[in-house]
Amino acid sequence: MAEFTLPANSKVGTGKTYPAPAGAKRVKNFKIYRWNPDDGQNPRLDTYQVDLDQCGPMVLDALIKIKDQIDTTLTFRRSCREGICGSCAMNMEGRNGLACTTAIDELKGDIQITPLPHMEVVKDLVPDLTHAYAQYALIQPWLKTASPSPSREQLQSPDDRAKLDGLYECILCFCCSTSCPSYWWNADKFLGPAILLQAYRWLADSRDEATGERLDTLEDPFRLYRCHTIMNCANVCPKGLNPAKAIAETKKLIAERAA
Ligand code: SF4
Ligand code: SF4
Ligand code: FES
Repeated sequence: MAEFTLPANSKVGTGKTYPAPAGAKRVKNFKIYRWNPDDGQNPRLDTYQVDLDQCGPMVLDALIKIKDQIDTTLTFRRSCREGICGSCAMNMEGRNGLACTTAIDELKGDIQITPLPHMEVVKDLVPDLTHAYAQYALIQPWLKTASPSPSREQLQSPDDRAKLDGLYECILCFCCSTSCPSYWWNADKFLGPAILLQAYRWLADSRDEATGERLDTLEDPFRLYRCHTIMNCANVCPKGLNPAKAIAETKKLIAERAA
């Protein structure tokens, strides 16, 4: 029978509250999703009261402060802290983004932080990206050529190089795919905006010689055509990219080769 409510072991409970230090004047509540696969407990939201006068300006600064000074068990990914690695992607107040480039001041009131939606969770704020990376491998994200290897680097004209703008900047944070309703419901078969933008990055590369093979891989009712141009992906991308446009260009290439 179809189940329309969350199973009992998925209900998110209210967790502990960690009070601000005495004398703190600018206190912000961070309500953070906690789940540990090893303790058999339901997920919960713990509340950490952070003194903003003793904290850096970004959401990631608050998470690092909490882990260093309040609760060392809090688990999240981060590396570059400047919007380059994509590892600190999470959902802050209902919107996906990078914790390191989201200012605490941008978010009014209490800040609720949960993992990227509709992904399996490894622990706390860490999503399981195994499936997403398997989809990335499927598109063979490297330059493929049939011609003999050149003796020096392959040059591109400035115009050809410019065709990669808006594509090469993708940091594979998956904020877009996990904002996409089509990906929520069909992630097993639909490649989602992040991987489809990456796929188009190679289709758009003047040096690549595998266009036909790449289009064969994508021409599928689920892998590509589950995109219904809802545009959540372009609205949420922290790098200002437009995966929906890359998807439309890919559909155009497939239509053109059929004509
Ligand atoms: S397109 Fe944007 S949101 Fe999507 S994975 Fe790339 S950088 Fe992240
Ligand atoms: S435009 Fe396509 S890929 Fe982007 S959110 Fe909508 S359905 Fe998903
Ligand atoms: S820590 Fe690298 S993008 Fe945020």
